[in-house]
Amino acid sequence: MENQTGTSVLITGASSGIGYELARCFAREHFHIIMVAHHEQKLREAAERLELEFQHVPIDTIAADLTRDNAPDEIFAEVQRRRWQVEVLVNNAGFGEYGLFSDSDLRKELAMIHLNVISLVHLTKLFLPEMLSRNTGKILQLGSVASFMPAPLQAVYGATKAFILSFGEALQEELKDTSVSVTVLCPPATDTNFFKVAGAENSKMAQGNLATAEEVAAGGFEALMKGEARAVPTFTAKAQIAASNILPHSVMAAAMHQQSAEEKPKKATRSRKESSSPATMAQNAPAETTPKKRAPSRKKE
Ligand SMILES: NC(=O)c1ccc[n+]([C@@H]2O[C@H](COP(=O)([O-])OP(=O)(O)OC[C@H]3O[C@@H](n4cnc5c(N)ncnc54)[C@H](OP(=O)(O)O)[C@@H]3O)[C@@H](O)[C@H]2O)c1
Repeated sequence: MENQTGTSVLITGASSGIGYELARCFAREHFHIIMVAHHEQKLREAAERLELEFQHVPIDTIAADLTRDNAPDEIFAEVQRRRWQVEVLVNNAGFGEYGLFSDSDLRKELAMIHLNVISLVHLTKLFLPEMLSRNTGKILQLGSVASFMPAPLQAVYGATKAFILSFGEALQEELKDTSVSVTVLCPPATDTNFFKVAGAENSKMAQGNLATAEEVAAGGFEALMKGEARAVPTFTAKAQIAASNILPHSVMAAAMHQQSAEEKPKKATRSRKESSSPATMAQNAPAETTPKKRAPSRKKE
């Protein structure tokens, strides 16, 4: 790949997980990296770690809470003030909220919609025109396997990810005659802080066969650089998406419900491999659950 010295990438949610690993991918290619995240201290520490590993790569940080309305405008203004030319925009920041919708935290869900959807649209709106005027640029939108199917126990989160896929694919069509590309990265359950932030640490999904942030980022980076429409980085993710193309959404919803349910006591559990295979997804009915505060499953009486 060409040496990208002087070219800037702006990555939201770059302080941990998939965003941090994406920053490492760009650092290997000598991009100027603009890391954006909410918590300043954590962001600074992540930037220091990156600087230590890639000593000749220019790295800057912008701390911003992207659940705030004006955060994208402030980030864009800072980028313009510093005269950075953002060639690649990575809309990666996001979080989930776990539980039955009737019991889950509305404030957290509204903030999630703001971060996962509104800030992503807002940043794309701000950075796209300059890319178009230069007729060069790349945008990576963080979707999920959940973009393709209903996500019981993460109902709002799944809907935000479905929005991102729909939005990304519409832009791909609108931009097809330009040299600006949009790629949607669709990871499966991945070993990051995501499950802790969502309150889903006890879910089967969190305790199953997780992808690594490194492999997800590598798959996303490769597809982005090739200008591909979609990046589905692991076999598990490909199998789940293939199943969603064949099976009715009600079956996928039941399978996702089971996968997202809280882990049963060890003696009653299936093997990890079995619980995440597409064949099992197709066969399984909604799960019984082990209650934490309240069982995240409700059956008709
Ligand atoms: N892990 C998975 O299983 C999985 C699967 C599919 C898709 N994804 C998607 O991958 C993306 C990255 O998540 P991850 O798994 O890497 O989780 P993560 O390790 O928790 O990283 C989330 C990043 O987003 C930042 N962030 C959170 N709230 C923010 C806010 N209000 N303003 C600005 N930045 C904020 C975090 O920074 P602070 O800590 O400073 O807030 C952090 O840098 C998300 O869009 C997620 O939906 C994850």
